[in-house]
Amino acid sequence: MSEILRAEKISKRFKIGDKYVDALNSVDLSFSKGECVSIMGPSGSGKSTLLYLLGLIDTLSMGHIYFNGQKISSLSSRKKAHFRSMHIGFIFQSFYLLPELNCLQNVCLPAFIQDKKNFWKKNEFAKKARNMLIKVGLEERILHKPTELSGGEMQRVAICRSLMNEPSVILADEPTGNLDSKNSDMIANMLQSISKKENKTVIIATHNESLAHRADKIVILKDGMIQ
Ligand SMILES: Nc1ncnc2c1ncn2[C@@H]1O[C@H](COP(=O)(O)OP(=O)(O)OP(=O)(O)O)[C@@H](O)[C@H]1O
Ligand SMILES: [Mg+2]
Repeated sequence: MSEILRAEKISKRFKIGDKYVDALNSVDLSFSKGECVSIMGPSGSGKSTLLYLLGLIDTLSMGHIYFNGQKISSLSSRKKAHFRSMHIGFIFQSFYLLPELNCLQNVCLPAFIQDKKNFWKKNEFAKKARNMLIKVGLEERILHKPTELSGGEMQRVAICRSLMNEPSVILADEPTGNLDSKNSDMIANMLQSISKKENKTVIIATHNESLAHRADKIVILKDGMIQ
């Protein structure tokens, strides 16, 4: 499998008052196209920090990140935002759906952000979002607002949203953290099929053993370092 994303000696140090927290410490990782990787480790071991760094949401203290061989960690913040919107899909534990938008609008949001000028001219985005929602069993909820949905339904909307711009890398932070076992299973199946059928790289931070063990590879973090 060919490498798509590589972290080279990445570190993250937070400063709180006059103290430092080394959340991630010189981590080297490589991810291939179509690979599904779980990140495990105790609470506070740096899993979320790692995903935020890989997704260029947070900035590195040290090290470099490469995407298809291009160093992306040194891009300007405007270029990073553009890169994120083109190539990265992020799934958060607490969904972060916008409450005033319905499911369809929430899923369309990344397309709107990426191309505000043409968004309103094309109804292909709405069609695509609608088809994704139907595919994950939410046909009856398309025009519902997030407050009218269950946790599993919200997470399915969030997954559709993360796929809207067809990113090559999906980063999922505790995607089953708020869900019961039936919904967890459904989300695990979805993530696995995204990686295998759509050849996307899926990186999942989780405490959920059964979800983690469905991945191709498990990376264990402890105190910000790979075990
Ligand atoms: N914004 C921040 N400011 C200061 N310290 C932070 C910040 N974010 C995370 N940390 C610290 O960095 C360390 C790693 O945090 P992180 O959230 O990555 O852990 P985690 O493995 O995701 O934990 P959990 O399983 O509880 O989600 C922790 O000690 C945490 O307190
Ligand atoms: Mg976390």
